[in-house]
Amino acid sequence: MGISGLRFVITGSADGIGAGTARLAASRGASVVVSDVNDEHGELVVEEIRAAGGKAIYCHCDVTDETQVAALMESAAREFGGIDVLHNNAGIHESMISSGLSLESMSRQTFEKVMGVNVTGVWLCSKYALPYLRKSAQASIINAGSTSSLSGYPQCQAYGASKGAVMQLTKMLAVDLAADGIRVNCYCPGSIHTQIVDKFLAAAPNPQAMLNTMTMTHLIPRMGQPVDVAELVCFLASPESQFVNGAVWIIDGGSLAWRGTLDVLGMEVNA
Ligand SMILES: NC(=O)c1ccc[n+]([C@@H]2O[C@H](COP(=O)([O-])OP(=O)(O)OC[C@H]3O[C@@H](n4cnc5c(N)ncnc54)[C@H](O)[C@@H]3O)[C@@H](O)[C@H]2O)c1
Repeated sequence: MGISGLRFVITGSADGIGAGTARLAASRGASVVVSDVNDEHGELVVEEIRAAGGKAIYCHCDVTDETQVAALMESAAREFGGIDVLHNNAGIHESMISSGLSLESMSRQTFEKVMGVNVTGVWLCSKYALPYLRKSAQASIINAGSTSSLSGYPQCQAYGASKGAVMQLTKMLAVDLAADGIRVNCYCPGSIHTQIVDKFLAAAPNPQAMLNTMTMTHLIPRMGQPVDVAELVCFLASPESQFVNGAVWIIDGGSLAWRGTLDVLGMEVNA
């Protein structure tokens, strides 16, 4: 049981949640393909995993480039003999590529770029991993949604639209791949401390007010860490979750469970 021996492909795993999942999965005996557009950071993650005795390789892949996606899946299968788990983690927020975040100021290129990475990327990677996943006895696809799949946020038009689409794509793929024995799930994190959050906060008109709305709503009074999400991904990949399919897992410190902020409860955010 557990994920020991499973073969993971994790997109966007040079940093943040993807890197955290790569480290955790490898530490539990999985073989991991770390993949990203940031080769320098991706290679470092692989070095770290190997230094700790884990199995990992790095493969450059822009998830919007069909040729690179096909090559990623081929390389993964060649190196480790197959693919069991596709973790569609790569994602961007519009604040990472543009300062125009309102309906008037955002360009069509920015909107389409976010949709391209966050939605088309998930679809393309699933498509090219499919022949290998079909041969696995423990196949699953795990997609990165967000609480913005389910709820509104300021300055998140492209991001929120893309994450809503990821949630629905998860369910459609779960249906279409059921006969192949491939489970497809997604998870929806609240605020997890990575560069995506730092850049989103930096772009906000009032970063402190935005930080408050992101953390003061967490019933667990802190920001999430990549390992919090990595634990859930490893569970969703494992045989222990074999009856979980087409599901949307909220991992948000409780923020969508209520309407309020911690001060109402006499609580404060811990560092
Ligand atoms: N951090 C959060 O609070 C949070 C909340 C909800 C959902 N998520 C989702 O989790 C996923 C990981 O985010 P993160 O917070 O770790 O951010 P991150 O920016 O630290 O990591 C994202 C990684 O994706 C890579 N990437 C960007 N464009 C790519 C492309 N075209 N092809 C391949 N890789 C690409 C980046 O280089 C980076 O390494 C994203 O899908 C994000 O939307 C994050």
